[in-house]
Amino acid sequence: MATLKDLISAQQLQKKDVERLLASAQKMEKSISAKSVQCNNKIVATLFFEPSTRTHSSFAAAAMRLGCPILTFNVANSSIAKGETFEDTIRMFDSYADALVLRHPQAGFAQIAADIASHPVVNAGDGGNEHPTQALIDIYTILSLKKSIKGLNVTLAGDLKHARAMRSLFYLLGMFGANITLASPAGLEMDSHLVRKVDEKFSPQISFSRAPSKESDILYICRIQKERFASPAAAEAAQGSFRIDARFLQGAKKDMAILHPLPKHLEIPPEVDASPHAKYFQQAKYAVPVRMAVLKDMLAL
Ligand code: NCD
Repeated sequence: MATLKDLISAQQLQKKDVERLLASAQKMEKSISAKSVQCNNKIVATLFFEPSTRTHSSFAAAAMRLGCPILTFNVANSSIAKGETFEDTIRMFDSYADALVLRHPQAGFAQIAADIASHPVVNAGDGGNEHPTQALIDIYTILSLKKSIKGLNVTLAGDLKHARAMRSLFYLLGMFGANITLASPAGLEMDSHLVRKVDEKFSPQISFSRAPSKESDILYICRIQKERFASPAAAEAAQGSFRIDARFLQGAKKDMAILHPLPKHLEIPPEVDASPHAKYFQQAKYAVPVRMAVLKDMLAL
């Protein structure tokens, strides 16, 4: 069975890789509560240089569900505080663990780690660049809700300039033939190089908008990525026009599903959580079987 060496970018995935991982995730979902010793004591290191709730815990849960022990790392208590380089830190974990799950605030650092490490590296988010496992979770969620993606109207809404989850998902949606609307405030548009690449490679229907659409089958919104803005005021200003609240949902397409990579902030007030449109907690739950499938693939279990 084919396995990936590293998973750094959605763009390295062929459709057959995505399909293999999603089929495996479906098996994982069914076996999630079964006791397992599949992992053969292979150790998964989780190296998070940036805050995380879901990604870290779901990778850890996925590793544990597979029977793999995890080795965690806390940047503030590590020798990084004594001036050790990122490269040396990776070398150390490469010699202690069998796979490295890495999150880093700088774009490109997952690839740097993969170039150094002999063991597989999974990109759990590198700056504003990519978050390929989140995109696999998103595709898995959409398929479980809508059965097929081809021709589905999917709106990606919010800070498309800085949100790595959106960049990885945009690529996979193109691969699966969705009709994609990119809705962002002025100045926060999806990178035009990536739009051109997706267009040239997959020719999906792509349109652009300044507001989230009530007509979508899937409305996927993300928070304004404040930490990647030069000025907090600019981030605040961008927030206003992208808000999915109870009022917005009046007159929305009946079976429109709202997805969000979480954490959500002002763009979805808590009143929406109880709406039948809100599918983001279900989406977050799928993180475990999908990440089990990715780890299983990379560790060749
Ligand atoms: C996202 C991330 O870290 O990129 N969260 C996640 O992994 N589910 C989205 C975000 O922080 O907005």
